[in-house]
Amino acid sequence: MRTVNIAIDGPAGAGKSSLAKAIASKLGYTYIDTGALYRAVAYKTLNSGYSPSDKDSITSMLLHTSISFRHINGNQRVYVDGDDVTDKIRTNEISSAASTVSAISDVRAFLLGLQRDIAAKENTVMDGRDIGTVVLPSADVKIFLTASAEDRAMRRYTEQKDTPHCVSYEEILSTMKKRDKNDSERAVAPLKPADDAIILDNSGFEPEQTLAYALQIIENRLNAL
Ligand code: DC
Repeated sequence: MRTVNIAIDGPAGAGKSSLAKAIASKLGYTYIDTGALYRAVAYKTLNSGYSPSDKDSITSMLLHTSISFRHINGNQRVYVDGDDVTDKIRTNEISSAASTVSAISDVRAFLLGLQRDIAAKENTVMDGRDIGTVVLPSADVKIFLTASAEDRAMRRYTEQKDTPHCVSYEEILSTMKKRDKNDSERAVAPLKPADDAIILDNSGFEPEQTLAYALQIIENRLNAL
């Protein structure tokens, strides 16, 4: 069976995961959060006592690392060497480390098969940075979701401002700009729109508006196939 794959790429905080989840639930497709796989590698790296930029140690570590994921009640769970790390990979420390390890080509190669295998088996909505450019260059629909850094930082700030680990807006904005720079200037698979991606800038949009636009883009593309 030929599967249908929708790629949603874009910078941190643009709302990719909320959008991809909403599309997947609307269409009955499987939502794949590829950032969680890079976060899982970052988790094991830090737990093993390595610096996220220590390419050689990380490359050797991957020789005896297993990363996998599965869906439980529609939610993706991620495993490192059989342990469920899903709830431990959302810290700021892991976000920065994931951005650093993701620049290592061996890390990207290690995770590539995992992402392509699931796309070959199921209809997916996959979110990441290089899905439309590298992982699934022939994805049926490619959306590059973006928004101003200030908008993205404000959304993250609002999400976490009443939590025990809240961080100031200025700090979030500065980390976000650093991550944008890291993700888009790396040599391998940098964050950039595929030539055939539709760019959706959702600065100032409510999530429902973004979803409505995206569904329209998907419908147009799938009807044109
Ligand atoms: O989407 P996220 O914030 O959970 O991703 C964490 C980091 O992983 C991000 O800074 C860049 C990297 N990443 C990547 O390089 N390629 C992907 N397809 C997904 C994430």
